Amino acid sequence: MQIGSAIPSSLRRAQALRIIAILAVFFVLASVSRYHGSFDFSIDEDGQVQSVPHEGAEHDIYYTHHIATFDPKDIKPWTKGDTAALRTPEGQRVVQYLTESPFQPPSAENENKNWILKDNHFLTLTKRLRVFRALWHAMKAYYDQLSQEGQQDQFYNAPPSEIAPAIEFLQKLEQATFPWVLSRHKTTFDLFQTYKDGGRGIVMCVGNYHAKFARTAIKVLREVVNSTLPVEIYYTGHYDLTPENRAWFEKYENVRTIDITTVIDNELIRLGGWAIKPFALLISKFSEVILMDSDAYFLEPPEVLFEDGGYKEVGTVFFYDRTLFPGAGGDKKVWMESFLPSMSNHPSKTRWFNRQGDHEMESGVVVLDKTRHFLGLLAICKINDLHERDQVTYRKTWGDKESFWIALEMIQERYSFIRYRGGVIGNVGDAIPYKKVLPQEEIDRYLQGESLTVTNPIDPQTNQQTRRDGVNMDRVCGNQLHFNYRGQPLWWNSGVVRDKFTSKSPYLKYTAYMKDEDGAWDFGDSCIVQKNPGAIMEVEWSQRQIAFKVIQADREVALEYNQPDFKEILEIPKLIKSEGAKGGNGNSEAV
Ligand SMILES: *[C@@H]1O[C@H](CO)[C@@H](O)[C@H](O)[C@H]1NC(C)=O
Repeated sequence: MQIGSAIPSSLRRAQALRIIAILAVFFVLASVSRYHGSFDFSIDEDGQVQSVPHEGAEHDIYYTHHIATFDPKDIKPWTKGDTAALRTPEGQRVVQYLTESPFQPPSAENENKNWILKDNHFLTLTKRLRVFRALWHAMKAYYDQLSQEGQQDQFYNAPPSEIAPAIEFLQKLEQATFPWVLSRHKTTFDLFQTYKDGGRGIVMCVGNYHAKFARTAIKVLREVVNSTLPVEIYYTGHYDLTPENRAWFEKYENVRTIDITTVIDNELIRLGGWAIKPFALLISKFSEVILMDSDAYFLEPPEVLFEDGGYKEVGTVFFYDRTLFPGAGGDKKVWMESFLPSMSNHPSKTRWFNRQGDHEMESGVVVLDKTRHFLGLLAICKINDLHERDQVTYRKTWGDKESFWIALEMIQERYSFIRYRGGVIGNVGDAIPYKKVLPQEEIDRYLQGESLTVTNPIDPQTNQQTRRDGVNMDRVCGNQLHFNYRGQPLWWNSGVVRDKFTSKSPYLKYTAYMKDEDGAWDFGDSCIVQKNPGAIMEVEWSQRQIAFKVIQADREVALEYNQPDFKEILEIPKLIKSEGAKGGNGNSEAV
């Protein structure tokens, strides 16, 4: 059919004009709603235009962050009807179901094994946490009223009859779920009260093994980026951190060390390893907390995290981990669906759900407003509790890492991730010597600022070359980098040397970085290989100077330890301005 020819030309002109007008309106709207006056934009994986805001510019957090938001119809508030229902046999069955023992009854198969969680424990726990959240918020007014009269001790003793069944249910839920709170406080509300006027601060968990990293981290906070935030350092029992280490930290103003076993009932949770982190957050008096690992180093004062738009909106700053091992570690989507009857809009965007990677969150730095996420934090602690972590959380995921956002899904509190995934910072090329077999002359030449030629040293044990061919200038190798909301380097972890697990591994030169989104990880060598030329970025000179001071701080700490290994090999590489990545061309002038 030839419709066009049948239409008079005046009508066609009018139609064309209308199309132009519609297009003009579209572009005006698009530029107003999307581009924010910045031409620096890209299309993100959700298919949306993402603007990269400039310093100080207004920006739309839905482009710079992933904000988890729940459908209001999935969130059930507590009602008077619910309280009335508790007086019925059906209501009592619900109470019974939500508060009964989480452990399997002994059977022929497990008669000798105690404390085996029921298969559907996390599903029950989710339901319990959601009811607890609704009830807690509904009863808070009663607690606040008692508290004003100085009568909060009476919360469970003599509640008014119209809310008595609800108060009783709340107590049962607390007893079943948070015994480690109740061994020090009458109710969870009492613990919540302790955060009042707690201010902002940093929480670190440090044992003797990590004390060397932590000393560098504290030096960097106080002497390099000049953070004034108070710091609490938690350790687990007298032997976990020596008096010498404790004294070293405490010589800094506003740095305290605290034995967590003196402030929480450790018989119940038996802390060790990662699990201390969420409990330290819970115990801390700070109301707004940056939880940081001892090997995390900042390029800006960490205070900036409290100004993050996602933090202001929902009270968390979470960082993504690297994109690694797609399809490994079992189907996490099926797992999450097994215990979350409803979820926010976030999980469907994750690499887990799209079979792109086995890691989501990096918990080296976690920012939490405890006044907005008290119940969320209780939920996070719960899935790091003794049996939950041993039998579920740490089996399904890597340590505490994913527990932060998963627990917030369980208890339905909004959270926010900075959109960029874990990248890399270090040197262009992978020939930086770090294997023990490398000849000393080559290390010396590197320290003098010379580029390295290909050597591929022979490993005497295997008689094979230790590295692949070439210096591989298509990649950046080094530590794991994390970005601020503008996509600029903010902090890195895994130490300050090429490979913190190899002894005598030399310091990195922090000249180049790359985003996870722009390349593919070579996990074994800790490199990102660029997908397209131009993905390698040069670290700004001001940040290279800060990174250099971080290395100097680390060197001072290493010398304090008086171990020959540190002294002999860990000379600091020269800081040479011309040695950057040359504007990110991924070129051979770099290194
Ligand atoms: C931190 O303070 C020192 C000493 O006052 C100063 O030299 C340095 O430039 C400061 N660092 C930053 C990042 O402002």
